[in-house]
Amino acid sequence: MAVKWTPESWRTHEGKQMPTYRDQQALNAAEATLRNFPPLVFAGEARNLTAELADVAEGRAFLLQGGDCAESFAEFHPNNIRDTFRVILQMAVVLTFASKLPVVKVGRMAGQFAKPRSADTELIDGVELPSYRGDIINDIAFEAGPREPDPERMVKAYSQAAATLNLLRAFSSGGYANLHQVHAWTHDFMGRSPWAKKFKDVADRIGEALAFMEACGITPDTVPQIKGTSFYTSHEALLLPYEQALTRQDSLTGQWYDTSAHMLWIGDRTRFEGSAHVEFLRGIGNPIGMKCGPSLEPDALLRMLDTLNPGRVPGRMTLITRYGHDKIEAGLPKLVRAVQREGHPVIWSCDPMHGNVIKSASGYKTRPFERILAEVRGFFAVHRAEGSFAGGIHAEMTGQNVTECTGGAIAITDEALADRYHTHCDPRLNAAQSLELAFLLAEMLNQELAERAKQAA
Ligand code: PEP
Ligand code: CO
Repeated sequence: MAVKWTPESWRTHEGKQMPTYRDQQALNAAEATLRNFPPLVFAGEARNLTAELADVAEGRAFLLQGGDCAESFAEFHPNNIRDTFRVILQMAVVLTFASKLPVVKVGRMAGQFAKPRSADTELIDGVELPSYRGDIINDIAFEAGPREPDPERMVKAYSQAAATLNLLRAFSSGGYANLHQVHAWTHDFMGRSPWAKKFKDVADRIGEALAFMEACGITPDTVPQIKGTSFYTSHEALLLPYEQALTRQDSLTGQWYDTSAHMLWIGDRTRFEGSAHVEFLRGIGNPIGMKCGPSLEPDALLRMLDTLNPGRVPGRMTLITRYGHDKIEAGLPKLVRAVQREGHPVIWSCDPMHGNVIKSASGYKTRPFERILAEVRGFFAVHRAEGSFAGGIHAEMTGQNVTECTGGAIAITDEALADRYHTHCDPRLNAAQSLELAFLLAEMLNQELAERAKQAA
């Protein structure tokens, strides 16, 4: 039987992918500072998200989770936040229209700073330094001083997260997220893109639906849902000293919540049984994601679900599968069957990014858009065959016009990767590729729901 959970019980478990800080005093000071800072989110908001996700688990809503692989101090700018937020909203409108389901919007934003790495050190021209682990831990510059983990960075990351969240909240409720506005952007964007023809029909129908609603008196002035939207934040709960310092007891329920974000997830490298990360996450009340890669066996998954969601609360667990385009159809069915057999309520979400990284001929880490789409198709095919609901998408994307993933309708070639390759970690979909993904997802979701209706009839 598991021992009693406390916000620090993870410290007696094996913690991978976390830095060793040399200056213990500086670490203590940073943790003490963070413990006195206000929570970034409220427990009640995390509970609202769990309730919305429960609808996804039951097939009545769809989850859209996206944002940077790694937020950075250097790319911190209101325009970047605005543009990513805008693309997520545009994707959500397309998906909502196609599926006729509410879309739960969750950003990889306002706290997505810490990165797991495949190697502890990096070797360049005979010089070996600690790997870059995200701006909350060390600096990307390849020099000894900057690569040393610095606990003060946690305090800086907190303030960037707070400012980002403040802007997101303002955008969500202050009028920027107005549905008419979001559609006008998509329409404008479509007019300029070479694949306009392919998706014009859907875009036009959204426009007609909005015009019809307006004629019926359903306008931003009369219906608040048209003027604003709910938007949640999430990140990988990797740097546990930071997460612990922001974990607070809710005065209403007595339950502990990690108030650094609404939703937290466990990465593929830290989700092993008995890990510090699993120990930490099992005790917080927030909705939780878990990355599921090819190495996860069904029995281990079931034990993990019993640990993380013993009460089998719908909306609590999102399983984010990240197999790779060539592995998903062989690997995923056994997980789905095991979960169905045991009756665990989960959301199945597809991360088509992390299993599809390759090195381009020009030496850049990239992801071919066709492979991303192939994994999404495989994901839908498996869930259709197993009778489970393909409930979500998890994407690394940005509103900027970067050149990091190859392909897409506005084809980015290998040679073009050098033009605007800005990511601090993994390659992201740019605005056009993100929207294209949404249109293609909409087609698949539509088919899935049509199939479901046919079976029900
Ligand atoms: C990520 O989501 O950025 C990540 C590192 O994913 P994974 O843990 O699935 O490799
Ligand atoms: Co990533």
